[in-house]
Amino acid sequence: MIVSAAKESFPGERRVALVPASVAQLINAGWQVRIEAGAGTAAGFLDTQYTDKGAQITSRAEVFAADALVQVRSLGANPAAGQADLAQLRSGQVVVGMCDPLGQPQSVQALAEKGVTLFALELVPRISRAQSMDVLSSQANIAGYRAVLLAATTLPKMFPMMTTAAGTITPAKVLIVGAGVAGLQAIATARRLGAVVSAYDVRAAVKEQVQSLGARFVEMDLKPGGAETAGGYAKEMDEEFYRKQRELMLKVVAENDVVITTAAVPGKRAPTLVTGEMVAAMAEGSVIVDLAAERGGNCELTKPGETIVENGVTILGPTNLPSEVPFHASQMFAKNVTTFLGSLVKDGQWNFDMQDEIVRDTLVARDGNVVNPALRDLLGIPEPEKQWHDREIELE
Ligand code: NAI
Repeated sequence: MIVSAAKESFPGERRVALVPASVAQLINAGWQVRIEAGAGTAAGFLDTQYTDKGAQITSRAEVFAADALVQVRSLGANPAAGQADLAQLRSGQVVVGMCDPLGQPQSVQALAEKGVTLFALELVPRISRAQSMDVLSSQANIAGYRAVLLAATTLPKMFPMMTTAAGTITPAKVLIVGAGVAGLQAIATARRLGAVVSAYDVRAAVKEQVQSLGARFVEMDLKPGGAETAGGYAKEMDEEFYRKQRELMLKVVAENDVVITTAAVPGKRAPTLVTGEMVAAMAEGSVIVDLAAERGGNCELTKPGETIVENGVTILGPTNLPSEVPFHASQMFAKNVTTFLGSLVKDGQWNFDMQDEIVRDTLVARDGNVVNPALRDLLGIPEPEKQWHDREIELE
C-alpha cells in the first residue's frame, strides 16, 4: 500500500506530516511512501533526505492518488485552501490528519460525501496506550514552550534573578492558567528561564504536577468538585463558577509580569477568565500570551492571530505556535501519525478494529457517511438504528 504526505497548504503552516525518519519506519512496515516535492523544506527536511530513506518525491496529484494520505491539516483544519484538494480525493481513500471535527463538522461531511475514510487525530483518546499517537499533546507541548519564549522576548524585563555589579535583578513573575499539557510545559520552560512561577487549574489532580515542576499552585476557594472527565479533560463549569473564578483571579493576575492562559474544555469555546479589568490592573509592560486564542481566547481582549497593546499590556493571541518550531513539531507529529497508521493495518491490509477505542473514537467518516455520533449530532443527522461499530462487529 502507498502512503503519502502532501505539502501543507494552510497559510503559514510550516510543518509536514512525515519526516525522513518516519519514511524508514513505514518502509520497514511494508508501505511505499510518496512525498510531494518540497513538502518538508519549510520544516528543514530536504527532498533528498526523504529519497535517501526510500521515499519517492512526486507531484501533488500523485500524492493525492495514494491509498492513504497523511496531513497535518486536513480539510476542517484548513477550511479555505483545503477546498482546492477536495476534487482530488477519491472513494475508499484513507485520510489521517487534524481536521477540527468538532469545530468544522461540515468539512467532515464534505469528505464523507467524497467517500473518504477519515480519521480525526484530535479525537485520539487520552489513554496511556494512545499517548504515542496523541498529536494534541505533542503539539501543545511545543506551544507551551514557545509561548514562554514569546513572553520572555516581549517583556521589558528579564526572567532570571541576577546578582551583578550593576545591581540585583529580581526574577519575573509568571502565572500559568490551565495546567494541562501546554500549561505544564509552560511552567517547566518559565522555570528553566529562572522565573518565579505559579499556576492554577480546576482539576485538583494537577496540583502535585505543578508543584513537582517547582511552581506554586494558586489556591482558590472554588470547590471545583467533579471538574474532570474520565478521559482526563476538564468539564465545562457553569457561568457562576467562572464569575467567581474571575473575581478571585483579579488580584493574582495583577501580581504577575506574565500571564499565559491555556484553559480549555474539549469541543467548547474557551472560558473567559481574564477580563479587561484584570488587564487594566496589571503593571505597564506586562504580557499575556493567550494560547486559547483560536477557541475564542481566555482573555476577553484577545484578538486571534494578533498582538495588541491595551493599557500598556501586550496581549498575544497566537494560533499556530507549533508551526513556529516546525522541525521538532513535524518530527513529533510524524511519530504520532506513523504509530497511528500502524494500528490500522494488519498483514499489509486495512484492518479497522472497531472494538479498539482508538480506532472507534477517531474514525469520523466512512462509506459515504459521518460515523461519529457527536458529529452526527452537531450536523443534525439522525443516528442509524444500529451504531456503526455494532454493525461492524456484526459484519465481522
Ligand atoms: P489540556 O486539555 O491538556 O489543558 C487545558 C487545561 O485547562 C486542563 O488542565 C483543564 O483542566 C484546564 N482548565 C479548564 N478550565 C479551566 C478553568 N476555568 N480554570 C483553569 N484551568 C482550566 O489542553 P492543552 O493540550 O494543554 O491545550 C491548551 C490550549 O492550548 C487549548 O486551547 C489548545 O487548543 C491550545 N493550543 C494552542 C496552540 C497555539 O498555537 N495557540 C497550539 C496547541 C494548543
